[in-house]
Amino acid sequence: MKFFTNNSNETLKLGKKLGLALKPGAIIALNGDLAAGKTVLAKGIALALEIKEDVTSPTYNIVCEYSGILPMYHMDLYRISDYDEFEMLGVDHLLYGKGITIIEWSERILDELPENIININITRVDNTDKRIIDIEGIEL
Ligand SMILES: Nc1ncnc2c1ncn2[C@@H]1O[C@H](COP(=O)(O)OP(=O)(O)O)[C@@H](O)[C@H]1O
Ligand SMILES: [Mg+2]
Repeated sequence: MKFFTNNSNETLKLGKKLGLALKPGAIIALNGDLAAGKTVLAKGIALALEIKEDVTSPTYNIVCEYSGILPMYHMDLYRISDYDEFEMLGVDHLLYGKGITIIEWSERILDELPENIININITRVDNTDKRIIDIEGIEL
């Protein structure tokens, strides 16, 4: 289903709504260009999970772990080229636990991910603050 947001606060709220609907073990493939709003959406999910820490972009860490009602693992696989490399990080088991896993640049390992994941694509509308957020795999 497609959602439209006009500013980052609306994207944050949408993330929170999504976060409240997530089941333990949910995996979210989060895609969109640089500055699309992926981290903003992840911050909204964190609000729903009552995570108190500040959620920042995991670009340099690759995986950031947060604890809330459920653990949240925020991954950025920009620097990973394939599943072998991903396995070498030793974090693949996180995908099969009860935590919520949010994966940016998931196309790197898409073939190896379970089929019932939530797919999200964020697109900017022209050069405005408007975003089209397409969420598949869960009803909101
Ligand atoms: N509708 C919107 N939704 C999300 N972010 C927006 C929106 N409009 C403007 N922004 C801005 O765009 C930027 C998105 O940054 P970020 O979430 O870090 O992007 P990404 O993680 O996709 O690279 C932020 O500076 C945010 O304030
Ligand atoms: Mg980001």
